[in-house]
Order: sequence, then C-alpha cells, then structure tokens
Amino acid sequence: MCAKHIVLVVLFALLYFVVKISSRFEFTNIECTSLDKNFDTFEYCYLKSINRTYKYLSLKVNLFKTPVTKVRGTLFKRYNGYRPFMFNLTVDACRLLNDTQSHPLVAYFVEFLIPHSNMIHPCPFTEDLVVDKLSVGFVNHQATKVLPFPEGAYLLETHWLAYDIDRAVVKVYGTLS
Ligand SMILES: *[C@@H]1O[C@H](CO)[C@@H](O)[C@H](O)[C@H]1NC(C)=O
Ligand SMILES: *[C@@H]1O[C@H](CO)[C@@H](O)[C@H](O)[C@H]1NC(C)=O
Ligand SMILES: *[C@@H]1O[C@H](CO)[C@@H](O)[C@H](O)[C@H]1NC(C)=O
Repeated sequence: MCAKHIVLVVLFALLYFVVKISSRFEFTNIECTSLDKNFDTFEYCYLKSINRTYKYLSLKVNLFKTPVTKVRGTLFKRYNGYRPFMFNLTVDACRLLNDTQSHPLVAYFVEFLIPHSNMIHPCPFTEDLVVDKLSVGFVNHQATKVLPFPEGAYLLETHWLAYDIDRAVVKVYGTLS
C-alpha cells in the first residue's frame, strides 16, 4: 500500500463523516504546516477553483525521514470559534490498511482509490505524500450512506506522526449547507 493511498484514504474516511446526502460540501481553506523542517516540507498545498462545480484540493509533502505511520484526525465545528466535534482519533495507517477485512469502511475507500494510484508497496512509507486533485464533487459523490450531519462550518485537523511525534499538520476548512 503506497503513501498516496494512505493520505487519500485517511482524508476520505474523515471527510466521509462530514458530508451528508442532501448537503453541499465546499472547501473554504487549507493550511499545511511542517513542524519539523528536517523531517518534512510541503512542496504545495492549495485549493483550486476551476469553475463553480469543479474545485479541488492538492497537496504534496516531501518526506526526508520516514516512516510516517500514524495520523490523528480531529473534527471541529464552528460556534464561537472552533470546538472539538464528534471525533478525535488516532489511526495507525499501516495496521489499518493491512487489515481491511475487519474495517469495511476502509476497504470501501481503498477500492475507490486503487485506480488513482500507480504504486503499491508495503509499509512503512518512504515516499513523498501526495493528494492529487481531491475534488469536492468526488467527496460528495462518495458519501452516499452517511449519517445526517448538521450544517455549519467545519475544520478537519490532521496530525501526521512518526515515532509518535507530530511532524506535520494539515487543516482543511469546509462548510456544509
Ligand atoms: C468545470 O470544469 C470541468 C473540468 O475542466 C469540466 O469538466 C466541467 O464541464 C466544467 N463545468 C462547468 C459547469 O463548466
Ligand atoms: C485529541 O486527542 C489527543 C490524544 O490522543 C490529545 O492530545 C488532544 O489534545 C485531543 N484534541 C482535542 C481537541 O481534544
Ligand atoms: C500485515 O498482515 C500480515 C498478516 O496478517 C502480517 O504478517 C504482517 O506483519 C502485517 N504487516 C504490518 C505492517 O502490520
């Protein structure tokens, strides 16, 4: 399983919880921060609007030291400022993806993502991490069997860990209306 897979699976799995059937999800902002420049840097990190219906998120992390194996995802909802909402969980991405049998949700995403990848190799990941054009339409489309989710502004904060230390933070802001 390649690094590209990991990032996509985790982002999708987390966004999956944020989108509900009849809602429109929009990205509003993205921030990528390296916490240790000896460890990783972001080559790029942006949202792009092609037209009204086609917007996407892309990012690329250059990894100088490996492995990154764990990801913590925390969802925040904006009231008066962002407050933790619904989940704050840390996943061992290698372990999770090595055992998709007992994680049907992960298996579901991996299946969608296989065509998006041209590399497959086992953990740990020694490559740069890339999310290529994760589109809003695709996110909305994938999320067809989701729990109803309240409208509002959300922040999905992900921390990328290696040796149990935070190495990078990616914050994705979006609204559900
Ligand atoms: C938006 O851009 C995409 C990609 O270029 C294109 O396939 C789609 O038809 C466009 N949609 C509209 C409404 O212009
Ligand atoms: C999320 O959990 C981690 C520990 O797993 C903790 O350090 C962190 O403070 C928590 N974040 C929030 C917003 O509760
Ligand atoms: C993946 O699973 C196989 C068999 O269940 C196990 O032998 C292997 O150690 C696992 N690898 C990782 C990275 O957890």
